[in-house]
Amino acid sequence: MLVLKRSIQVCLTLLFFANCSFANEGEKVYQAKCVSCHESYIPMTKLMENFVERKNTLLHLKAPTLNQLSYRLKQQIGDPKGDEEIHRMEVSAFISDYLNNPDKQKTVCLRDVIQYFDTMPSMKGQISEEEIEAVSEYIYDFDKKIVAKKGVKHELFDTALQKAQKNDKIIILKVMTEHCHFCKKMDREVMVDDQVVKALQKDFVLVQVDITKNALPLGLTAELTPSFFFIDKNKNILQKIVGSWNVEDFLEILKKVNMQKGVKK
Ligand code: HEC
Repeated sequence: MLVLKRSIQVCLTLLFFANCSFANEGEKVYQAKCVSCHESYIPMTKLMENFVERKNTLLHLKAPTLNQLSYRLKQQIGDPKGDEEIHRMEVSAFISDYLNNPDKQKTVCLRDVIQYFDTMPSMKGQISEEEIEAVSEYIYDFDKKIVAKKGVKHELFDTALQKAQKNDKIIILKVMTEHCHFCKKMDREVMVDDQVVKALQKDFVLVQVDITKNALPLGLTAELTPSFFFIDKNKNILQKIVGSWNVEDFLEILKKVNMQKGVKK
């Protein structure tokens, strides 16, 4: 029994390292074979300015960035709401096909973006199936990793309340669901923006609740996602907003709510 347990442990440890090295492998392939054309991460606000207002004269990009690719591929290929493992395979199959037979007709990118690029040169014979699989995994996870890395950490409500009381901050309770399009849009476009992150870190504590999985605290209810409740340290609801906001409007909301602090006792 002990031997069995031990060998399962060894297996799990090996699997863990195998997975880790696979992730690193993907990044290595990207650095070696894709980075010359595809830049890694550029914030969405800057990308929008570049493509919509400046016709790519601001950044002079040669190809979509990895955060664009990661998001568009996951949104456009297969069933984004279905089984994740199957979806990963679908995305990987698309990338494999595209690397061997690039054709802009198959593009997952927006026309406003793709029009500034030449067709990607074929990489047939220059990249192995294993390398394609590794780089596909890396691209699949890229967008989510950026949101986790750049965004402000979420707290549990009770912890948030303690922090709010201790440091005189306002709780932002973000109501979302896993597949809510506008929640994801805000996560990747607004919640990672430098100015927004700075404002959030200074005056707020962030709580996120998936309403398909958990009840909201304080007996609150919300039908639409995303919804944001702004709650002060005395559990007063200062404000509730519904829907997706751009950086400018969200910053304005944060500023106004922050001015309300202390007014309501
Ligand atoms: C020599 C430049 C160049 C290199 C190297 C390159 N790409 Fe591309 N890639 C492009 C361009 C340009 C586009 C946009 C035009 C297009 O889709 O063909 C593109 C588009 C793509 C697309 C999206 C296709 C679409 O339009 O929906 C994927 C996926 C992709 N590249 C993956 C990769 C991966 C993975 C690597 C590295 C293994 C790589 N590319 C290396 C230039 C390059």
